[in-house]
Amino acid sequence: MNSWLSLPRPFLMLAPLEGVADTVFRQIVSSCAKPDLFVTEFTSADGYCSAGKDVVMQNFQFTPQEAPIVAQLWGRDPGAMYKTAKDVAAMGFFGIDINMGCPQKNVIGHGCGAAMVETPEIAASVIAAAKQGIKDSGRDIPFSVKTRIGMKNIVTEQWISFLLAQGLDALTIHGRTAKEMSKVPAHWDEIAKAVTIRDRMGVSTVIIGNGDVRDAKDAIEKAKTYGVDGVMIGRGIFSNLWAFDRTPQPHMASPRELVDIMERHVTLFTETWQGKKSYAILKKFFKIYINGFPDATAWRVRCMATESAEEVLSVLRELKESDILHKV
Ligand SMILES: Cc1cc2nc3c(=O)[nH]c(=O)nc-3n(C[C@H](O)[C@H](O)[C@H](O)COP(=O)(O)O)c2cc1C
Repeated sequence: MNSWLSLPRPFLMLAPLEGVADTVFRQIVSSCAKPDLFVTEFTSADGYCSAGKDVVMQNFQFTPQEAPIVAQLWGRDPGAMYKTAKDVAAMGFFGIDINMGCPQKNVIGHGCGAAMVETPEIAASVIAAAKQGIKDSGRDIPFSVKTRIGMKNIVTEQWISFLLAQGLDALTIHGRTAKEMSKVPAHWDEIAKAVTIRDRMGVSTVIIGNGDVRDAKDAIEKAKTYGVDGVMIGRGIFSNLWAFDRTPQPHMASPRELVDIMERHVTLFTETWQGKKSYAILKKFFKIYINGFPDATAWRVRCMATESAEEVLSVLRELKESDILHKV
């Protein structure tokens, strides 16, 4: 069954964000304005099938607050992909997705992620292995791919036609080549081209557009203009935790509210990971929360200099006890 077809139109998703959107951050996003669908950080199928499985399993942790959620995998070994997809399908995910768009050197260097664009025969065997793994798990969950529009050059016509011929339930297209990283504006016209290819081929694959979308309003406009079924927002969440708020007057968080959320984030991170993840990871988020008031930079610098959750929570208490946040 293709459960993607049962989502509202257009549906909005939080992008997979490795090292950022773990279960903790997804719970925070969910408590602000929940997207229709979450995705896990991408997870190596080889890693899952290795002795390091315990660490890899952290990526598959989620709470009911984050459901529905798709598990994202990467890898080029069909055997590892089959086993991982089979096991992961039994973990309660909405669906399974394979990353064929990551431009990171350590991923494309192994022929994975966006490198698949140049090895379609391997892409096809990895897709077939994942689909067989899902089937053999006995769970009827959909299968999807997230990709870009090329490695060095834009090859939407060939690559997207090829992927759509593989029998995908959904396909997310980040409208840039791997070489472009995120340095140029996303080519939404190429995403629209993918929709045209899908319609021409007469397949029912759900298409999700991704690239530079700020918030729900922007997403809904893009869906209308470019004809996609759903829209994925990545970095937009860093400047607006309410990016998925569809109400006519989206929530504008006050600096005080953001500091309260940062306290919750730090506390939930500590409780969830119990030292299994480094405290330094939390520092990636401080810019989201310590913002929009006089001296925010100086307070952020103080937070960045801390070395533990207790230490940063005490800086936040001091900030809240001062009258700085009341003045804004
Ligand atoms: C920090 C970070 C981590 C990312 N991790 C993943 C990932 O695990 N899997 C994936 O498919 N894409 C990943 N991406 C790419 C995003 O999902 C998204 O495709 C990209 O940021 C473009 O969308 P945006 O312009 O809305 O940010 C990551 C991007 C960033 C900035």
